[in-house]
Amino acid sequence: MSGDGAAGEREERRASVPFAHPSEEDFARILDFYGVTWEYEPQSFTLREEDGRVAEAFTPDFFLPGLDLYIELTTLKQSLVTDKHRKLRMFQERYPDKQIKLLHKSDYLSLLAKYGFGPFSEVEVEGIHEVLISASQIEQRVEELGAQISRDYRGQEPLLIGVLRGVMCFMADLMRHISLPVVVDFMAISSYESTEPGSVRIVKDLEEPLEGRDVIVVEDIVDTGMTLNTLLQQLAERKPASLKICALLDKRARRLADMPIDYVGFEIPDEFVVGYGLDFQQKYRNLPFIATLKRDWLSAHLKTQERPE
Ligand code: IMP
Ligand code: MG
Repeated sequence: MSGDGAAGEREERRASVPFAHPSEEDFARILDFYGVTWEYEPQSFTLREEDGRVAEAFTPDFFLPGLDLYIELTTLKQSLVTDKHRKLRMFQERYPDKQIKLLHKSDYLSLLAKYGFGPFSEVEVEGIHEVLISASQIEQRVEELGAQISRDYRGQEPLLIGVLRGVMCFMADLMRHISLPVVVDFMAISSYESTEPGSVRIVKDLEEPLEGRDVIVVEDIVDTGMTLNTLLQQLAERKPASLKICALLDKRARRLADMPIDYVGFEIPDEFVVGYGLDFQQKYRNLPFIATLKRDWLSAHLKTQERPE
């Protein structure tokens, strides 16, 4: 999990690669944007031999180790495309265990979307700096959290409480990875910044009684911890049998009110993040990954010092 440093490193690395074609550099930039690791022209494969010598070889443009996939980019020139198709056929015949894809520029995005790395239609989302946690990283971690909760609560029927609205994606995915009977309920709160920091008002209360139940408060992100701290005190008054916290993101560096968080998805640096339910001024919740916002963009749009809910 990294901020500007990682983006800078990736940019530097990209600048040091002798790309043969600008479209290759574009493709590398898209891969970097989505946090997909890549190697450029990783290796040459022999396609044909004559008298024991290599008569024809093929070097795919990219290898994506995480997907175990070679990528060959196409140009618009029909003569070259035909030749590439021929080489790819030979490659697949000789190396049937290797996966390769021929990609036209318009195919990049749908390929990335297929592997969960991005939205379907946009490469650059306005204001987004970089992807901090990719969709597949989220998926894997949420699955682990669900499995852990299923083990810890074996024989019980936990009540999952989500704090709206940021938690919607996380809750929807997490509950499907809990292999126990669960009950789900939601509440909405708003914070009074003007009065006492961390004081919260319940805007929408729970439908479920808490008394005697095993409650897990599911949160998108714990930042200062002030909201959660006050909320937990209020929930504890309702006498649950147990009360635990599961947060997808933990911005520990900013913690003011300290409390144990029983289940944490990812610890993240002190950066404002959006996506996968998290918003900035109600936008970006539908991004399938978690991304940081550009600092200058963020400050330009922070007309008031109000904190998003
Ligand atoms: P806390 O009381 O400071 O812990 O604030 C927690 C709430 O602030 C979270 O439930 C979020 O709704 C919001 N929040 C804090 N940090 C971020 C962020 O980086 N992106 C989006 N929302 C955030
Ligand atoms: Mg929230």
